[in-house]
Amino acid sequence: MTAASLPADARALQAFGPGKIILLGEHAVVYGHPALAAPLSKGVRVVGVPAAKCLIEAAEPALKPEQKEALERAFAKVAKAVGAPGVSVSLSSDLPVSMGLGSSGAVAVACARLLLQAKGKPFTPEKLESLALLMEREFHGTPSGVDHTTSARGTMLLYRKRGPIRAVKARRPVKVLVALVGERTATKVTVAQLRERQARWPKTYRRLFDEVGRLAELGAKAAAAGDLAQLGDLMNINHGLLCALGLSSERLDAMVHQLRARGALGAKITGAGGDGGAVIALFQEPEPTVAHLLNEGVSCFSSLLAGPETL
Ligand code: MEV
Repeated sequence: MTAASLPADARALQAFGPGKIILLGEHAVVYGHPALAAPLSKGVRVVGVPAAKCLIEAAEPALKPEQKEALERAFAKVAKAVGAPGVSVSLSSDLPVSMGLGSSGAVAVACARLLLQAKGKPFTPEKLESLALLMEREFHGTPSGVDHTTSARGTMLLYRKRGPIRAVKARRPVKVLVALVGERTATKVTVAQLRERQARWPKTYRRLFDEVGRLAELGAKAAAAGDLAQLGDLMNINHGLLCALGLSSERLDAMVHQLRARGALGAKITGAGGDGGAVIALFQEPEPTVAHLLNEGVSCFSSLLAGPETL
């Protein structure tokens, strides 16, 4: 049987892009400072079947009209760059959308991976990342690149926008509870508002960004050494600085404090923050707290970010 005569399902291509969380360093990373980020177990899966045209057809869960339009526009960009292979793509995701968990980066990585596979030629990790960035730019304007790079590499990273990016090998498992606090303003709006403030008072904001970058570097060392107590403490300090930068809200702070009261080693906003989004909390074993919170109606899940078994 030749490939062309195979049933369409058997010839389907598949690709995955994990979501991400930022343990330390969001926003400062936009200004060139390092951030400690890691992939989530949840993410975006795409399936492609042979078709006359290169297009993205369906998404599950269904997208709002403006999200669908943004996805089609971004997909068209990357499809053109790859040479528009004849493949029809459908997408499914178990990652909450617009919560600061890197859903657009995960979409970009999954689609770029699938389209490169559809071309049928070997490709380099650099090629994958540069195509995913094309798509991320459509979604976010001027992203630092931390989301799609973490998704593409699938490992904990000390990420820098310019300069060396380092994989962090954690000596002990690093597990977080991710709590969803609610809808939030789009990342590009929160990033633009902060840019206006820092442009007005550059010296003050530079000092805060410098300190956040230092926390990320220390955090990478703490994760590598398996020092979860220090990593948690750094997360708490980072949350304080995110508050100082005007990136928290009453409900985000309330969740951070609730998780600390339940024994988290550290808790903070993850991603762009602002008025809503997600909070992460570091626990040695997050599962019992996940069960309690789910019982109380809080939307949350746990994820292993790094550790000996993920290397
Ligand atoms: C978004 O996941 C993280 C931000 O730092 C923006 C970026 O890095 O592009 C807020």
